[in-house]
Amino acid sequence: MKLRSVKGFHDILPEEIKRWHFIEDKAKSVLEIYGFEEIRIPHMEYTDLFSRGIGTTTDIIEKEMYTFNDRDGSSLSLRPEGTAGVVRSYIENSMHARGTVNKIYYIGNMFRHERPQKGRYRGFNQIGAEFFGSYSPAADAETISMLWQIFDHTGLTGSTVIEINSIGDPNSRKIYRNELKKNLTPHKDELCNNCQRKLETNPLRILDCKNKHCNKITRDAPSILDFISEESREHFENVKRLLDLLELPYTINDRIVRGLDYYTETVFEITTDLLGAQNAVAAGGRYNDLVELMGGKPTPAVGFAIGMERVVLLHKMKYESWPGLNINVYVAWMGKDSFETAFKIANYLRKYGISTEIEHSGKSLKSQLKRANKLNADYCLIIGEDELKTGKLKLRNMSESTEKEMPVEDIDMIIANIRD
Ligand code: HAM
Repeated sequence: MKLRSVKGFHDILPEEIKRWHFIEDKAKSVLEIYGFEEIRIPHMEYTDLFSRGIGTTTDIIEKEMYTFNDRDGSSLSLRPEGTAGVVRSYIENSMHARGTVNKIYYIGNMFRHERPQKGRYRGFNQIGAEFFGSYSPAADAETISMLWQIFDHTGLTGSTVIEINSIGDPNSRKIYRNELKKNLTPHKDELCNNCQRKLETNPLRILDCKNKHCNKITRDAPSILDFISEESREHFENVKRLLDLLELPYTINDRIVRGLDYYTETVFEITTDLLGAQNAVAAGGRYNDLVELMGGKPTPAVGFAIGMERVVLLHKMKYESWPGLNINVYVAWMGKDSFETAFKIANYLRKYGISTEIEHSGKSLKSQLKRANKLNADYCLIIGEDELKTGKLKLRNMSESTEKEMPVEDIDMIIANIRD
């Protein structure tokens, strides 16, 4: 059988990793400027954590989790998202004792058994942030602003927009759910199969179905914004006021309901129209009840996750070519006797922090220079038998195609010229 990766899973190849590092580094530096600290949580949790946190009638829990029994019979699941695990860790490690406010971020793989397509995978990566301990609308605004800054620093604000909504508290959502169900039931037969089922289990999700017919039917459905409580309305007004104050370009989309049950009040997405159906490149919202629901002290929170694969796809569309591998020095040697001198010099250069490559078996100068070019080397050091005899090697500047001679023994001079 031909070897291949599991359906819906993919490799991030060395050729692509620089772009990933660029986005991750920009995100990390913005997160750290806002006082967020990194957490690394397990890829696997007890299944119950996710069912309780994300909600039993959500797509993720109903049909997308990778769940199996451990040897002792306990049910485990690969994490479909990061929030539930971070909340578990927050409670288990009594993080509330570190201070009223805790700001945590994570980067890593998530697993959902979805139908793979462009921008949608079964194994994918997220950069997520969770801000615990503040009920203030300023926490929502600051979180959205930080997310937007990550898109700004990666050069992606031109092709994305911020969409926000408020889904109120669980009580008003219940009233809205009934109203929506009443409104959509006469059109049940016109809805797609999935939405027909959703009408019974989770009617709010019909609002973000991608099917055109369903969209047409929901166009005239009531808006959740007309059902949220006075308190939620005031919170939302304040979030908007602060976003205006920060001059963030957002639009209100009352059809954003999110696919996870833990949200309360503000929800948001960063979307793009360049990726087809998978238009959300990042998403999040406030979840005031989750920590308590999981057994912790009542702790409000707000957070988001960026879909790395989608952001990378978008970045590739905007910035087609991206720097690949680039080494400082390639050490080329000819003749058996020069190998050890070359090997020693390469070792010195690496010790001094200069990225260096060298062949281990004899090759022609031509093929070594070809490899130096492939590695995008800034310099090539050439040591042949003639150079050994005269005690001088050649330092070639690859972009300028110029050469200088230097004493083999004077490593400081070689380094100074390379660093020049
Ligand atoms: P989510 O909307 O399920 O939220 O996922 C966030 C982002 O992850 C999506 O907007 C999308 O860019 C990306 N994503 C989701 N599923 C896939 C997939 N199958 N393939 C590729 N990318 C995908 C959450 O996960 C929440 N935990 C976010 C959050 C954090 N809310 C509060 N704190």
